[in-house]
Amino acid sequence: METTFIITIDGPAGSGKSSTAKAVAEKLEFLFLDSGALYRAITLAALEQNIDLHDPGQVKELAQSCKIDLRQVNRDLLVFLDDRDVTEHIRNPKVTRAIAPIAAMPEVREELVNRMREMAKEQSLVAEGRDMGSVVFQQADLKIYMQATIGERAHRRQQELKQKGIQVSLQDLEEEIARRDHSDANRAHGPLVKPQDALVLDTSSMTLEEQVDWVVAKARKRGAR
Ligand code: DC
Repeated sequence: METTFIITIDGPAGSGKSSTAKAVAEKLEFLFLDSGALYRAITLAALEQNIDLHDPGQVKELAQSCKIDLRQVNRDLLVFLDDRDVTEHIRNPKVTRAIAPIAAMPEVREELVNRMREMAKEQSLVAEGRDMGSVVFQQADLKIYMQATIGERAHRRQQELKQKGIQVSLQDLEEEIARRDHSDANRAHGPLVKPQDALVLDTSSMTLEEQVDWVVAKARKRGAR
């Protein structure tokens, strides 16, 4: 059996990991595994079905029963929830605000971790999230931990939102990011941590292209083809 090559990229919100992981996956022709999209899809399903976000029983049942697919179409990663394209819906701020209790549930994490490991048996991938290197793919071929200052991360989010016609102040974004950092780092299950064997990439003053080249070079050095 051909073995797959696994790259993990973890880091806080706005550190640049999504764009980097996506571009690295494209260059190496690997799957981009956007793990946050899976947590977002379950949260969206829970909101739509009026499920109590704090009830582990109900949320677990939902997590086990819903179908989530990541499909690479041309240069885009599309997210399907029960065969419906929810790529845009899962980025809604309502979903972002509701995610914390769901991402903190061990029942949900266990379900998604199993699904992600199944995906990695079939294809090489770049997995991006919070616990990709520390929990989900502990045996990854290359682990990266990306970070950037909170000011720079808020600035990047502001630019992203601006492109979608949404104006948010830097101060509001910094506060939201600080809140997310806190809940990501302090939950009991799958918290954001830097894996001991990860290479640290501080992106505060790097361009996207520089970040991508850096990761691709490390991956090739370790045998990615
Ligand atoms: O990367 P993102 O912003 O799309 O992630 C959305 C939320 O999902 C984030 O606030 C924390 C959660 N998440 C997680 O708990 N574990 C992951 N591996 C990825 C995301």
